[in-house]
Amino acid sequence: EFEYKTGLSALRLTNSSGSASVEVLLYGAHVLSWTVHNKQILFLSDKAIFERGKAIRGGIPIVWPQFGPGPLPQHGFARVKTWQLGKTNTNDDVSIELHLSHDEDTLKIWPHKFNLTITIRLSEKSFSQELTVHNQDDQTFEFTALFHTYFTVDNIKTTKISGLNNVTYMDKVDEGKTKTETNKVIEFTGETDRVYKDGGKNSNPILIDDYIQVIGSSTMSEIVVWNPWEEKAKGAVDIGEHNFPKFVCIEVGHVNDAVKLDKDQLWKGSQEITLLK
Ligand code: BG6
Repeated sequence: EFEYKTGLSALRLTNSSGSASVEVLLYGAHVLSWTVHNKQILFLSDKAIFERGKAIRGGIPIVWPQFGPGPLPQHGFARVKTWQLGKTNTNDDVSIELHLSHDEDTLKIWPHKFNLTITIRLSEKSFSQELTVHNQDDQTFEFTALFHTYFTVDNIKTTKISGLNNVTYMDKVDEGKTKTETNKVIEFTGETDRVYKDGGKNSNPILIDDYIQVIGSSTMSEIVVWNPWEEKAKGAVDIGEHNFPKFVCIEVGHVNDAVKLDKDQLWKGSQEITLLK
């Protein structure tokens, strides 16, 4: 455990051969960094704000129990709460667990008792996160969930995403219209904010620039593809126009409809990211 910016506690997880490592904050169970042979796979904004109550721009924010705007703060509250460290395993399959439960503040805005566990696993060339939701309330509750991963790219203007051909999506930058992806390879020429429905289930794994493979569990079969482009990046204090070419968000989640989880029940959703070379 070590101290990251402004007093936030962080953990570093290294695989057995020492070739890969992950840094995760207890704040938000937020993965800040994943390196393989010293190459950084994730993007973290140089203007990111590290303050309690604020979301961190970059890495992997956890979106729960609400994706996007709604009655709760944007993208829910899991990304702005401090999680507790659970079991760690430093053998061959390196892993850590982080936990978050309801408290006075969450009950005020979302009146349900819950326990969340995130398990992070690291191996030579892959990394996974699994979210377990336990309903500890006396009634059913509903949520959406998503891993909001920011990937580093050489240049968004030459970035290529494949694996979504023929998948239906909601185009948030074109009045929320429903469209079908006709391109084998998605390229970026402007602001992009799309929710691909059942992207993970119906198609091949998602590939970023032919070497980063992203796979969601069958319970997390939507893929959000996001880049704010120049104007919006300029307008965001924690991004800036110099940063928009440097990342793409490929977000695995269950966001198209809500998960309905009965009392005492568990729900699991996960993503696995693998480097193919
Ligand atoms: C994406 C949404 O998942 O997150 C976008 O589809 C949103 O609409 C983006 O702008 C960033 O959200 P935030 O709250 O982290 O700025």
